[in-house]
Amino acid sequence: MKQKTSSSSSFYKRKCFRWLLWFSLSLYFFTSYYPTSKTTTNTNLLSPSKTKPSSSSRALIETPHNKTPSKNPQILSTQPLVSTNMKLYVYDLPSKYNRDWLSNERCNTHLFAAEVAIHEALSGSGFRSLDPWEADFFFVPVYVSCNFSTVNGFPAIGHARPLMASAVQRIASDMPFWNRSGGSDHVFVATHDFGACFHTMEHVAIADGVPEFLKKSIILQTFGVRSQHPCQDVENVVIPPYVSPESVRSTLEHVPEDGRRDIWVFFRGKMEVHPKNVSGRFYSNQVRTEIWNRFNQHRKFYLKRKRFAGYQSEIARSVFCLCPLGWAPWSPRLVESVALGCVPVIIADGIRLPFPSSVPWPGISLTVAENDVRNLDRILEHVAATNLSIIQRNLWDPANGRSLLFNRQIQVGDATWQVLDALSGKLHRSFRRSGEDRVQQGADKWL
Ligand SMILES: *[C@@H]1O[C@H](CO)[C@@H](O)[C@H](O)[C@H]1NC(C)=O
Ligand SMILES: *[C@@H]1O[C@H](CO)[C@@H](O)[C@H](O)[C@H]1NC(C)=O
Ligand SMILES: *[C@@H]1O[C@H](CO)[C@@H](O)[C@H](O)[C@H]1NC(C)=O
Ligand SMILES: *[C@@H]1O[C@H](CO)[C@@H](O)[C@H](O)[C@H]1NC(C)=O
Repeated sequence: MKQKTSSSSSFYKRKCFRWLLWFSLSLYFFTSYYPTSKTTTNTNLLSPSKTKPSSSSRALIETPHNKTPSKNPQILSTQPLVSTNMKLYVYDLPSKYNRDWLSNERCNTHLFAAEVAIHEALSGSGFRSLDPWEADFFFVPVYVSCNFSTVNGFPAIGHARPLMASAVQRIASDMPFWNRSGGSDHVFVATHDFGACFHTMEHVAIADGVPEFLKKSIILQTFGVRSQHPCQDVENVVIPPYVSPESVRSTLEHVPEDGRRDIWVFFRGKMEVHPKNVSGRFYSNQVRTEIWNRFNQHRKFYLKRKRFAGYQSEIARSVFCLCPLGWAPWSPRLVESVALGCVPVIIADGIRLPFPSSVPWPGISLTVAENDVRNLDRILEHVAATNLSIIQRNLWDPANGRSLLFNRQIQVGDATWQVLDALSGKLHRSFRRSGEDRVQQGADKWL
């Protein structure tokens, strides 16, 4: 195919994208300074032409630190970003690959539902191109996490590999875009425990590895560790697990006005007091067992093992929220803690957290080594006596929660936005852009 040439290099476009992102976020802060919800005045403020740069930078300084994150997230136009020209084509696959699964309502809301939310947000966004010839990236919407077992309610994922394989086979035979790039500009979502390894148990996941047919593509996955690991042996972006923004909003609406946090340390979830040896491995590396055994009786620890639908309100009432590993290192508690203003205490050695260039994790959370959980009380006492208020001030910047939540309609700074920002850093993988780069490099020789 003949490439359309462009006078600007992809590097310039990347810089431009960054700048626009910054500019739009400034606007966002500026508008969120006003406590009113969607009004016509607000809408007008979103138009870049009507907002002077001086007012947006002032607003950045004046962004107030509330006791809890903002209760009024607003829908914004994505107009400024569209001009950066990064385009994404969304494959229109038969419904058995995606929409059919939505007949079960949980498919839309459970912790793996980013596969659905990203698909919807991209489909309705200005980044979408209906013309695949002008697309930089190709999104392959396959939902693999919704085959809920009737026995325990957990999704079975045995079908994930064949379903993905069949989708790839289909797009490769129907259209030329997979073959021309070998899939390197194609984007998939793998929100299950160990990403595209598609298995709940780590040793099996490792043995299976990422399927060959996905190895050259880009995987958006909840799994990430800092060390080398077969389940991230593929170009990937670590994304947050799905938490419904509506549930967070509704919880925040019921937070008492004084924002008092009367629970000091909170955890609710599976504990495995007598952890079973599953093929030589123990749930949570026995960290949760240790937490239970050590602190169950501690008067400042609020530890619960039963499910409770209102647990988000408990998070909103808590100072510290424990986020220990389960089978996998990541947990939806991370997202809920940040969004509800409870300092996440991350206990999962070597975890790689989502969107580190936007979410200042070291400043808004605490990390405790798995081996140190027995000292949790002393560690947290020390933080409370020294830098807790600094951490909370950092944490309560509404931009943090916003970055970790997927809205059905993309919003400036939200999780889908962060995915696009990450993709904009991978434009060199785009077959279309690489054509432009070749032209540009040729031109550079003459400079
Ligand atoms: C869902 O999972 C079950 C149990 O693993 C499996 O038998 C079934 O084929 C799967 N369904 C589909 C549509 O892949
Ligand atoms: C892509 O390559 C596969 C395997 O070589 C082939 O079967 C398929 O027909 C090709 N697709 C197109 C659109 O040419
Ligand atoms: C767990 O079970 C395996 C056999 O499956 C055994 O070799 C190992 O010693 C056990 N580990 C512990 C800590 O009990
Ligand atoms: C707060 O203090 C703890 C323990 O001394 C330290 O690990 C952490 O990095 C500090 N965090 C911030 C944001 O200052």
